[in-house]
Amino acid sequence: MNLQQIKNRFGIVGNSPRLNYALETAVKVAPTDITVYIQGESGVGKESFSKIIHQLSNRKHGPFIAINCGAIPEGTINSELFGHEKGAFTGAIDNRKGYFETVNGGTIFLDEIGELPLETQSRLLRLLENGEFIKVGSSKVQKTDVRIITATNKDLFQEIQNGTVREDLYYRLSTLPIKVPPLRERPQDVYLLFRKFASDLADKYHSPEIELSEDAEQLLVNYNWPGNIRQLKNLTEQLAVLEQDHLVIGEILRKYLPQTQSNLPALSTSSSRGGSSDFSERDIFYKVLFDMKTEMTDLKKIVLELLKKSNSREEIVEGNEAIIQRVLSEASESEANALTIHRSSEASTAIDSDHHDYIIEPEESVSLEENLSLEDKEEELIRKALLRNNGKRKKAAQDLGISERTLYRKIKQYELD
Ligand SMILES: Nc1ncnc2c1ncn2[C@@H]1O[C@H](COP(=O)(O)OP(=O)(O)O)[C@@H](O)[C@H]1O
Ligand SMILES: [Mg+2]
Repeated sequence: MNLQQIKNRFGIVGNSPRLNYALETAVKVAPTDITVYIQGESGVGKESFSKIIHQLSNRKHGPFIAINCGAIPEGTINSELFGHEKGAFTGAIDNRKGYFETVNGGTIFLDEIGELPLETQSRLLRLLENGEFIKVGSSKVQKTDVRIITATNKDLFQEIQNGTVREDLYYRLSTLPIKVPPLRERPQDVYLLFRKFASDLADKYHSPEIELSEDAEQLLVNYNWPGNIRQLKNLTEQLAVLEQDHLVIGEILRKYLPQTQSNLPALSTSSSRGGSSDFSERDIFYKVLFDMKTEMTDLKKIVLELLKKSNSREEIVEGNEAIIQRVLSEASESEANALTIHRSSEASTAIDSDHHDYIIEPEESVSLEENLSLEDKEEELIRKALLRNNGKRKKAAQDLGISERTLYRKIKQYELD
C-alpha cells in the first residue's frame, strides 16, 4: 500500500510534508512491536494514528483499547491497569484482571502518559522492559504480550524537570517519537479537511453540502485552530446543523471562531455586527457542561468508594436512596467498562482541552435537582472522610477516590477548613 492508499483506507486527509512524514513513520513502525510515542496537541489525530498502527500490525485481530491516563483516579489506576488480588485493599472483593492482562495479544493506547502517578510509571517501565507486571496485592510476577503506544500533548522533557515524569521512562518511550503537527502549521490542509467533513455531513444529514464564500475560506485557512482537527470537524458540523443557507460567508463564519490570542490578526477586521458574542456564550455553556460532567464523575467515584467501604449500607442509604440506586447501577456499568468515561470523543470544541475527553451524551443530561442534592451529599461525604481520617487530607482523598488537588478545591469550596 502506498501512502495515498493508506490515507484513503483510514480517512486521513492532508498532504503537508510533516503529516506525511509522521504517517510514513507510523506505517513503517506498525508491523514491529516497538513502543511508539506520539506527541502532538489535542485534536491533531494522535488516537487516529494509534489505531492505524494497530490495524497495520500483526496484532490487528487482537484487542485494542485506548485509555486516558488523566481520567482515572490515582487510587484505582494500578488496579485498573495491572489488576488486583482479592483482599488487596478494602473493597477488593474479587480478583480482578487489569487491562494489561485482558489485552494480551493486542495493543494498548495510553493517552496523556505524563498524568500517570510516579509509582505507576515505574510499573509501566518494568512492563516495557520485559513484559512483566505484578497485580496489586500479589507477589507473583506475571507476563503479558501487549504492544504499547503512548501519547501526550505536553512536553514530557519539561515534565521531568517538574518531577512528574520519570527520566528513565522518558528515555524508554522516546526511542521512537512521532510528532503529529498542529493544524495551524499545515494551513494547506485546512480547506481539504473542511471539504471532507462537509461532504461526510451532507451524506449524514441528507442535506446540501456546506460551502464557503471566498472570504470565509480565507478566514478558515488563516485561523489558528487551537483545537486542531477536532475543532474544525465540530465547527463544520455546527455550520451544517445551524446555518440555513448552505453558502456560508465570512461574517457568519467569524461568529463560530472563538477568539484566541494568537489569531487576533485574523479577527481584527471584526465585523460590523460586532461578532463573536454568540460563540462566547456557547463557549461558556460547553465549559459548564464539561465541568458538570467531571464533577459528576468524581461524585460517582466518591459514593461508590464509600459504598464499598461501609459494610452496612444502611447508614448511607438512609441519606438518599434514589442516588444510591442510580450510582449503583451506573457503577456496575462503569466498573465493567471503565473506558466509557475516558474514551475520546468529538464533543468538545476544544476550547477546553483539559476536558476534551469527556463525552457529552444527550442521555446523560443532568437535571437541576439531582445536581443540588448531590452537592449536599458531596459535602457530607467529604466531612465524613475527613473525620474518619482525623483531618488527614491525603488519606481522605484516597477514601473518596479523588485526587488531593480536587479535595483541596472542594474543602475550599464548602469552607470545611
Ligand atoms: N488527518 C486526518 N484527516 C481526517 N480526520 C482526522 C485526521 N486526524 C484526525 N482526524 C479526526 O480528528 C478528530 C480528532 O482526532 P484524535 O485522534 O482523537 O486526536 P487526538 O487524539 O490527538 O486528540 C477525530 O475525529 C479524527 O477522526
Ligand atoms: Mg485524544
